[in-house]
Amino acid sequence: MITVFGSINMDLIATTERLPKPGETVAGNSFSTAAGGKGANQALAARRAGRTVHMAGAVGKDGFAEPALALLKDAGTLLEAVKHADEPTGTALILVGGDGENMIAVVPGANGTVTTSDADLAIAAMNKGDILMLQLEIPVPAVEQALAGARTRNITTVLNLAPLIDDAARLGRLADIVIANETEFERLAGQENMGPDEREAALKRLNGETGQTLIVTLGADGVIAIRDSVIFRTTGLKIEPVDTVGAGDTFCGYFAASLDEGLDFEVALRRAAVAGSLACLKQGAQPSIPLRADVASKL
Ligand code: RIB
Repeated sequence: MITVFGSINMDLIATTERLPKPGETVAGNSFSTAAGGKGANQALAARRAGRTVHMAGAVGKDGFAEPALALLKDAGTLLEAVKHADEPTGTALILVGGDGENMIAVVPGANGTVTTSDADLAIAAMNKGDILMLQLEIPVPAVEQALAGARTRNITTVLNLAPLIDDAARLGRLADIVIANETEFERLAGQENMGPDEREAALKRLNGETGQTLIVTLGADGVIAIRDSVIFRTTGLKIEPVDTVGAGDTFCGYFAASLDEGLDFEVALRRAAVAGSLACLKQGAQPSIPLRADVASKL
C-alpha cells in the first residue's frame, strides 16, 4: 500500500506562443483549469498504475476543493486523510509555452496548514513494508516528522525533492529513496553545474556515504540511478512534448507503484520513464497521467 503525504492544488493554466520574460506581457491562446499539486498528481499516477493509494493532505472549504479532488476520487484513491482547512485550496498559476515548457507559481493555501500531527496520523495508519511518498510542497516540519516516523515503523520512504527549497539537501538525507531532477540533485550533492561524469561520481559518493537509493531524472535524456552501488540508466519514449507539467510527478507515482508491486528496480525505472513521457502528450497535470494499460502497451 502507498500513502502520499503532500500537496493538492487547483491548476489555473494559460497557454502562450512563448513564455514571457520578466516584466513582459504576452498574448495567451487558451485558459483551462485542472486538478494538480505534486502530491495529488503522484497519488493519481500510483493509483492509475493499479495500486491501493491513500492521499493525506489538505484542501480548503472553497469551490476549488471538490474539483481538486475529483480525479483522485474517480480513480478510487482513498481520501479519508485529506482535511478541509479554513485556508483556500492551494492554487498553481501555470503558463505553458508553445514548446511545451512551463513557468509555475504556487500559492500553498490549505497545503500550508498541514502539520506534524497530520504526519503522525498518516504514519499511524500505515504498516511495515508500505511505501510513503513525499514532496516539498507542504510545510517542512510535517515532511520531517513523516520521514522520521516512517523510519521507526520500517516504512519505505520515497522523497521527491521538488520544488527546490532551502531545506532540500537536509531533508533528502532522511529518505530511503530520493528522486530529483538535475538541479535538485546538485543541491543534494552540494555541487553546481555538474556534467554527466561528475553526476555519476556524485551518485556513487552519496550512495556510498548514505546507502540511499538515488534517482536523477534528466528530461529527454532519461534517468540515471544508483542502488546498492550499482548504476542504472534508462530512457522514456521519443516524443514531441505538448505540456510537460506533471511529467515528473507521473514518473514518481509510477515508480512507487512499481516498487509496491514488487517489480525489479530496473523495470520500475523504465516503466516510470515511459509513463512520464506519455504524460507530456496531453495538457494538464492530472488529465495527462496515463493508465496502466497505456503504459504497458509502450514498454
Ligand atoms: O508538478 C506539477 C505540479 O506543480 C502542478 O500540478 C502544480 O500544482 C504544482 O504543484
